[in-house]
Amino acid sequence: MSGRVVVVAGASGLVGRALVRALASDERVARVACLVRRPLVLPADQPGAAKVDQRVVEAFDEATLGEAVPKDVDDAYCCLGTTIKVAGSQEAFFKVDHDAVVAFAQAARGAGARRFVVVSSQGADRHSVSFYLRVKGDMEASVARVGFDLVHVVRPGILDGERGERRLGEELGISVMRGVSRLLGGPRFKYAPIRAETVARAMIALAFGEERGVVSTESARLQELGGATD
Ligand SMILES: NC(=O)c1ccc[n+]([C@@H]2O[C@H](COP(=O)([O-])OP(=O)(O)OC[C@H]3O[C@@H](n4cnc5c(N)ncnc54)[C@H](OP(=O)(O)O)[C@@H]3O)[C@@H](O)[C@H]2O)c1
Repeated sequence: MSGRVVVVAGASGLVGRALVRALASDERVARVACLVRRPLVLPADQPGAAKVDQRVVEAFDEATLGEAVPKDVDDAYCCLGTTIKVAGSQEAFFKVDHDAVVAFAQAARGAGARRFVVVSSQGADRHSVSFYLRVKGDMEASVARVGFDLVHVVRPGILDGERGERRLGEELGISVMRGVSRLLGGPRFKYAPIRAETVARAMIALAFGEERGVVSTESARLQELGGATD
């Protein structure tokens, strides 16, 4: 079968699940390898489900991931991340949102991937006063040095979608910002919440674009690329 072979880390998360569904149903994609800690359950009616190849990985370090990334991979997509609350400390958060992302990038590059598309965050900045945004900025800088032909850093605003867990602060933020953005231009508003499916479609559009080098894409542009309507 012709088409790209892609690998996804963070495939069980909010953006990751939307991304796997969109990649599986994309005719330009031949195989979707998902590196997961626990097997994913795909919807029964998922188009292209047979293209999804799940690989359970015990540890998200470069050596273990290197074994799991397909050797004919073209593109790697990273939707990894945690919260400081779940991780338990800033150090533990850094190990996921920086170290595991960079380990995945190195493993994918080592296997021959030419393109890397990674979810960062609106406001990512190595010099931010926010620890979270500093880690995202550090991650972006580290990934840029791995040596891909193309790195797409996507910087969504607050993510909207159905989670298996409650995140009360985020839910409040989404409902406030949804109201504000309706008054200020809808998805074109810089701080509008963005659907996980929109981010996923934008990531794929970017991976199939013509750019080279390291390219960062902000949330309002992701809304356009991902075809958001409201
Ligand atoms: N929440 C927001 O509003 C927001 C806004 C902008 C950017 N972002 C960023 O966008 C990215 C995706 O967010 P999301 O909400 O889709 O994430 P999510 O739903 O929390 O999913 C995170 C993914 O990372 C995996 N993961 C977490 N800890 C791990 C570990 N120690 N080892 C291996 N895998 C691990 C999870 O796997 P398991 O299922 O196995 O735990 C899951 O697949 C994150 O980097 C996040 O920081 C979020």
